[in-house]
Amino acid sequence: MAATVVDRRRQLVSLFARLRRSNGQANPLPTYDHLRAMGEVMPAPWGGFLVTSYRLCNRVLRDKSWLVPDRNWRTRQEDADRWSSPASLQISDSLPMLNPPHHARRRRSLGNVFHQGSLTSLRPSIEKAVERLLDRFIEQLREGPADFVSLVGDEIPVITIGEWMGLPSSDYDLLRSLTHDQVHTQELFPTSTERALSDAATARLRDYFSELINERRKAPGDDPVSSWIRTWDELEPDRAIVDETVHSLALFMILAALETTAHVLSDAVRLLLEHPRQLDLLRQQPELVPDAVEEVLRYDAPIHMISRVAPSDTELGGVVVPEGEMVQLMVGAAHHDPTEYADPHAFDLRRGRGLHGGCPATSKTPASHLSFGAGIHYCLGSSLARLEATVLLDALLKRPVRLRISSAPQWAPRVAFRRMGSLQLALA
Ligand code: HEM
Repeated sequence: MAATVVDRRRQLVSLFARLRRSNGQANPLPTYDHLRAMGEVMPAPWGGFLVTSYRLCNRVLRDKSWLVPDRNWRTRQEDADRWSSPASLQISDSLPMLNPPHHARRRRSLGNVFHQGSLTSLRPSIEKAVERLLDRFIEQLREGPADFVSLVGDEIPVITIGEWMGLPSSDYDLLRSLTHDQVHTQELFPTSTERALSDAATARLRDYFSELINERRKAPGDDPVSSWIRTWDELEPDRAIVDETVHSLALFMILAALETTAHVLSDAVRLLLEHPRQLDLLRQQPELVPDAVEEVLRYDAPIHMISRVAPSDTELGGVVVPEGEMVQLMVGAAHHDPTEYADPHAFDLRRGRGLHGGCPATSKTPASHLSFGAGIHYCLGSSLARLEATVLLDALLKRPVRLRISSAPQWAPRVAFRRMGSLQLALA
């Protein structure tokens, strides 16, 4: 029995080591199959539990009683370098790391940020940026292979969110590179070098947004930061708390919007080029673009793991998760769970229309994906991310060029936040 436990721990360590290598990142699906076959809920060798099935990831996300790892939880952990670092504590003040009742108050203050009206007004400038970036990209392709990630995929989200927040375009490169560094703290196994990068980026982002808030206080406009200052000045008498709250909101909007959306944009192009029949289908039926975006989000979500903390000793899939223990919801694996999705490794744009949908054994309709989470922390920027992806694919399909992948995409060695470092394309 003891040997079995030791074997399972070894197996998990080796599977996660594989996931972090470039071939594991290029195709994590065999590792996910292996993990799901080992169990729906398993103790992780590094602490906490792993949840691999769709049914349980979905259940935990929708159950309000499960908590997020907030500041209290972080400061109680023995590994202070990991959990009480400046970067970790800064993240703990952001909206997705607040638990009830603090979460509801802050989320309510934001309202529906990306309602239909605001999306309609953002659309023309996204379209303009996409056309400009594609013109430049295709011009470069005429000279030889070019990197879609740096020239297009990484650019669209920073331009979109930067324009929305009224930030100078000269700051976009800085914000993008600080975001790449900051995200390390949210990974499953950040190294000490990555944690130091994350702390340094957090300090610089702090200065950046503190200055921005000072400027917007002096000269308020009709931008979101000025509007959050106005809202919070009415809700909260203490000006220092207001500034801190607005700071966390502004910072998190940047962190939440850049890498995640960039992944969907570049990955959509990668997946379509790797599945030429699906690309042909999309060319014949461009009305399937929104379906294509949903299938990209299911097939390879930008965030493959979401954390929750057990509120009390809680039974989950036959395993008792002790109070205060963290569970890693492996949504990347859950999205390929064959009990929810028929032929889950097939990249199929019509899946949502039921043509290749739910589980044949149970005749269930296909489950909606968990890429934007579910429950009280459901992503506030989902409609903006979908809009950016739709505009990009619409624009690409209208171009008369044919593309091909000219060398294998490069992946960052992560397990939670997917990041393609480069996607070299050439004219076909
Ligand atoms: C494809 C792009 C995106 C993906 C995959 C994504 C994913 C997620 C996920 C999984 C969560 C829930 C985290 C949890 O439950 O712990 C979340 C929350 C959030 N996202 Fe996104 N996101 C994306 C884009 C954006 C954008 C563009 C914005 C804003 C401009 C944004 C703002 C937020 C905010 C504010 C929350 C916190 C909501 C809360 O805790 O109440 N996201 N996102």
